[in-house]
Amino acid sequence: MIIDTLTVVDNRTGKSYELPIEHGAIRSTDLRQIRTGPDDFGLLAYDPAFMNTAACKSRITFIDGDRGILEYRGYPIEQLAERSTFLETAYLLMHGELPTQAGLDAWAWEITHHTWIHENLKKFLDGFHHDAHPMAMLVSAVAALSTFYPDARNHADGDGRRLQIVRLIAKMPTLAAFAYRHSLGLPYAYPDNDLGYAANFLNMMFRATELKYSPDPALVRAIDVLFILHADHEQNCSTNAVRSVGSSQVDPYCAVAAGVAALYGPLHGGANEAVLRMLNEIGSVANVPAFVKRVKAGEGRLMGFGHRVYKNYDPRARIIKRVADQVFAVTKPNPLLSVALELERIALADDYFVTRKLYPNVDFYSGLVYQAMGLPVDMFPVLFAIPRTAGWLAQWLEMMADPEQKIARPRQLYLGAARRDYVPIDRRG
Ligand code: ACO
Repeated sequence: MIIDTLTVVDNRTGKSYELPIEHGAIRSTDLRQIRTGPDDFGLLAYDPAFMNTAACKSRITFIDGDRGILEYRGYPIEQLAERSTFLETAYLLMHGELPTQAGLDAWAWEITHHTWIHENLKKFLDGFHHDAHPMAMLVSAVAALSTFYPDARNHADGDGRRLQIVRLIAKMPTLAAFAYRHSLGLPYAYPDNDLGYAANFLNMMFRATELKYSPDPALVRAIDVLFILHADHEQNCSTNAVRSVGSSQVDPYCAVAAGVAALYGPLHGGANEAVLRMLNEIGSVANVPAFVKRVKAGEGRLMGFGHRVYKNYDPRARIIKRVADQVFAVTKPNPLLSVALELERIALADDYFVTRKLYPNVDFYSGLVYQAMGLPVDMFPVLFAIPRTAGWLAQWLEMMADPEQKIARPRQLYLGAARRDYVPIDRRG
C-alpha cells in the first residue's frame, strides 16, 4: 500500500519526522511534535488571512480558481444559473441533492409561509435613523431575530435546526426590503404568498398603491439568477465568520449576523457598491485611461477586479454579463455600462493586471444590473446577503454535524514585550 507522507527534517535538531498526507494536506497539529526541547510548545504554521490553511472538510461548494470553475454539490454554476431557481439551489446546498417535485413544492411552501416578521421587529427597525445604512440595519435585525426565537439556542436536534434555517431564508428578503423602505420613509409592504421568492422580494421593495404587484418576469428571473450566483462560495470571509462564531454553539441568527457583518466590508460584499462609486467617479469613457494610470501608480484599486481564489476569470462574472443584457432590454441601459466595458477592455490588455491575474469578479457588473432595476447602491450588499444566507446555513449545518470541529481558536506568534513588573504611575518615564 502506498502511504502518502511528507518527510520533514528539522535542521535545528537534525531530527526527521514523517507526516501523513490526507486529501493533499498535512494536519497542522502534526507539526506540534517538532520541538527543540521539552519546553518548546512545538512548531506552528503561520498563515495570516488563511492563505493556505484548510479549516474544514466540506462537501458543499467546489472552486478551481485557476480554471474558473464553481460547482455547488457537484453541479456547475452555469447549469444552475440556466436551469435552476434560487429556492431549488438553496435546497440543494442544504440537503446535498436536488429535490423531487414534491420535495421542492414542500420546501417552497415552507419558506413562503415563514416570510412574515414579528410586528415588534418592525418597531425595532423604526428605531433606526432615517439615513442608516440598510446593511448595518440588516446586521442588527438578523441578530435581533434571535430574541424572537429563544428556542433557536437549543439547536441540538435536526428539526430545530431545520426550522431556524427555513425562518432565516424566508425572513431575509422581508428584513432587507423593510430596511430599504424605512430609509425612504415608506410604509412597509407585506409579503405576498402568491409570489415566488424573487418576485415577492421585488413586491416588498417596490409595491405602492396597487393591490397586486406584478414585476416584469425578466427582472424576476434576473434577481433569481443573481441569487443563485451568490448563494455560496465556500470558505470566504463571511462564511468563515459564520463558522467561527457558530463554533461557539451560539444560535444561527447570531452566527448569520456575524456573516452579514463580514459581508458589509468593502473588500467583500461592499465591492459592487464600491464599483458603482468608482464608475461614477470616472464619469466618462474618456477618463478611463487616466484612472487606470492612477490605479497602476498604487493610488487606489480597480474595484470589482481581482479575487483571492479566481486567478482566471470569475465564472459568475460571465453569467452576470449575460443577465445584464437581458435586464437592459427591459430597463433603460445603464449609462455607466460603457465606462465599465472600456475599463474592462483596457485592464484586460494591460500588463499590470494580466501579470497579477486580475480579472473582473462577480461584483464588476452586478451593481450595474441592480442599478438599472432601480435598486439603490446602499442595497447592494443587502442583495448579496439574502442569497448567501443559504450558503452560510448549509456551511453551519455541515460544521455542526462534523465531529472534527471544535470551537474555533487560532494560535498566535507572540512578539510583544517579555514579562516585566508593573511600574507605578509616578515612576514612569
Ligand atoms: N486593483 C489594482 N490592483 C490590485 C487589485 C485591484 N482590484 N487587486 C489586487 N491588486 C494588486 C495588489 O496591489 C497586489 O499588487 P502587488 O503584488 O504589486 O503588491 C496584487 O494585485 C495582489 O493583490 P492582493 O491584495 O495580495 O490580493 P488578495 O488576494 O489579497 O486580494 C481582493 C483579493 C481583496 C479581492 C483584491 O483583489 C481587491 O481588493 N479587489 C478589489 C475589491 C473587490 O472587487 N472585492 C470583491 C471580491 S469578490 C467578493 O467578495 C464577492
